[in-house]
Amino acid sequence: RKVVVLMGGRSPEREISLKTGRRISSALAEVGYKVLDVDPKGDFIKSLNDFRPDVVFIALHGRYGEDGTIQGLLEVLGYPYTGSGVLASALCMDKVMAKKVLLYEGISTPPFRIITAGECQERQRTETADRLIEELGLPLVVKPSRQGSTIGVSVARKAEELEKAITDAFRYDQTVFAEKFIDGVEVTASIIGTKNPRVLPLLEIVPATGFYDYTAKYSPGMSQHIIPARIPQDVAERVEELALRSYRALGCRQFARVDFMIDREDTPFVLEVNTIPGMTETSLLPDSAKAAGITFAELVSLFVEEAWA
Ligand code: DAL
Ligand code: MG
Repeated sequence: RKVVVLMGGRSPEREISLKTGRRISSALAEVGYKVLDVDPKGDFIKSLNDFRPDVVFIALHGRYGEDGTIQGLLEVLGYPYTGSGVLASALCMDKVMAKKVLLYEGISTPPFRIITAGECQERQRTETADRLIEELGLPLVVKPSRQGSTIGVSVARKAEELEKAITDAFRYDQTVFAEKFIDGVEVTASIIGTKNPRVLPLLEIVPATGFYDYTAKYSPGMSQHIIPARIPQDVAERVEELALRSYRALGCRQFARVDFMIDREDTPFVLEVNTIPGMTETSLLPDSAKAAGITFAELVSLFVEEAWA
């Protein structure tokens, strides 16, 4: 079968996408697929139409790749593609919208407030920061709504840090929000499957520096992946249940990774759902799959075959 692997793209996660994409493309080539790597810039539609793939493997992260836009384009062009469709991709890319859906479903996610661009203007910023602290307390995590790999995200532990955190986040998106910081254990649930999705072994993340940021995510040795996560059995079951409910509520397909923080009282909170989680050498989903006895080549072949069927 012929597969185009889309990688690179225009988001700030371009470098990560190239790593994810190259790993997928070599794994597929090794097991016998005819593979073409395509960077969706310039006249890439011509490359697609010349090669005529059976399946397009979308290995893009962030905007113009993970957010439903490429998915929509491929729908129009008529190429089957891996992963979630237009709506689920768009919803999950936008953390605020995803949180609204989760709340509707009664799934716990950390309390948050949206910050408008007006509230970030210089003369309003101090007032905004004060109001956020009053409403949500400290520390606060400030995030651009549509951005991945912790880019533009900061934790404000003191009031003085909050204004800078807000300004930084606005560099990456026009929608920014502040979220209550959940102190506890970070656990991720990778899910595969569409009709009968299953949760792969839960993975606990222990970042060397205490915060699982861009450096901790992609530098070998900067974070430890512990499988299975060291949490009580009943909490693990609750996390699995919430992960599956989130996956279904948002309409995900084939695979996704649901990120959690579990507080000191063992209450799990869904932070977000990633529809195209990183599949680099240091990424989480491939490790959980491996723990379930699924090799990387088996995993990506499965996604291709499902997309084709
Ligand atoms: N956004 C990165 C790639 C992840 O979620 O793994
Ligand atoms: Mg993400």
